[in-house]
Amino acid sequence: MSLDTIRSDIKENNEPLSSVKWEDEHLILLDQRLLPESIVLLDLYHSEEVWESIHSMKVRGAPAIGIAAAYGVVLGARKYAAQEPNEWMKQVEDTCTYLATSRPTAVNLFWALDRMKDTAQKLVSEGGTIAALNASLLAEASAIQAEDEEVCRLIGVNALPLFQDGMGVLTHCNAGGLATAKYGTATAPMYLAHESGIHLKVYADETRPVLQGARLTAFELQQAGIDVTLICDNMAGMIMAKGWIQAVIVGTDRVAANGDVANKIGTYSVAVLAKAHGIPFYVACPLSTIDLNTPTGNDIPIEERSGDEITESFGKRTAPAGIKVYNPAFDITPNEYVTAIITEKGIVRAPFPENLASLF
Ligand code: MRU
Repeated sequence: MSLDTIRSDIKENNEPLSSVKWEDEHLILLDQRLLPESIVLLDLYHSEEVWESIHSMKVRGAPAIGIAAAYGVVLGARKYAAQEPNEWMKQVEDTCTYLATSRPTAVNLFWALDRMKDTAQKLVSEGGTIAALNASLLAEASAIQAEDEEVCRLIGVNALPLFQDGMGVLTHCNAGGLATAKYGTATAPMYLAHESGIHLKVYADETRPVLQGARLTAFELQQAGIDVTLICDNMAGMIMAKGWIQAVIVGTDRVAANGDVANKIGTYSVAVLAKAHGIPFYVACPLSTIDLNTPTGNDIPIEERSGDEITESFGKRTAPAGIKVYNPAFDITPNEYVTAIITEKGIVRAPFPENLASLF
């Protein structure tokens, strides 16, 4: 499918693409690996397919991973429809344990799986048929998705006062609608500003090596009619020095209890550059991304991915065969670089340990 066809599809529907959908008793994922060139929807019927889709980043972005995993639990539980409630519960637990191994960094995955497990346990203790248990589990997954949409909208509402007409705003990776149920986290104020006639000039970092900024953020903001300019990651310092950027806003995969932030590799460099240029560095996330059980950024597990993402991205070899490669998918931005964390409950500033804890 050509990009032109995609554009007209979206215009006709007048709705942004949604990355996760439950329809006709199965899960439908938008294959984000193939955007923006092709729109391919994947029909998933098994929790193993959900695991693979998360692991291979067909679905990615912390909240979207959590939502997909929640539906993965529904699919896993349904396979054992004929069993006793206690056996069904064991199956739910095993499915959760299994899905939790799909990616390590985004805490939303574990948050969503814990929520599904707790719901299942409560349902079993209250009694009911297996059919009723399965129906309630699906209702919980749908609730996680619906709540995420509302939470992202609230993040946008809370963040909007930080952005004035005419500001240049830099973002890294994709913390957009494609990474969430809707609106995104870092992009929520951009969408809301656009709706209110406030003009922001957004710069999207390309985001090596998987190009979430180029393929996803640039794509979805362009589709929405938002003023977006794509830059390579190594251009951020230069445009800050030129005075083009008045704020940076990014999403996150996990915020530690002390306010250290894990996000897409390259975020730390952007934060250091922002501080050097006196530019505020904002992090937007739902409460489900804040992990008070992880004391500092050093305690956040950082995913390492295959070196092929660097040497052969998108099928083209760009480095010598056999070269040693280091490919961490995320980095840690220490809390001293973070101006504020914007959540659905409001804006949190330093001291982060106390102020983050008071949200819960
Ligand atoms: O590896 P990815 O594409 O899943 O990484 C995504 C990010 O780093 C996002 O910024 C983060 O998950 C927040 S999404 C609202």
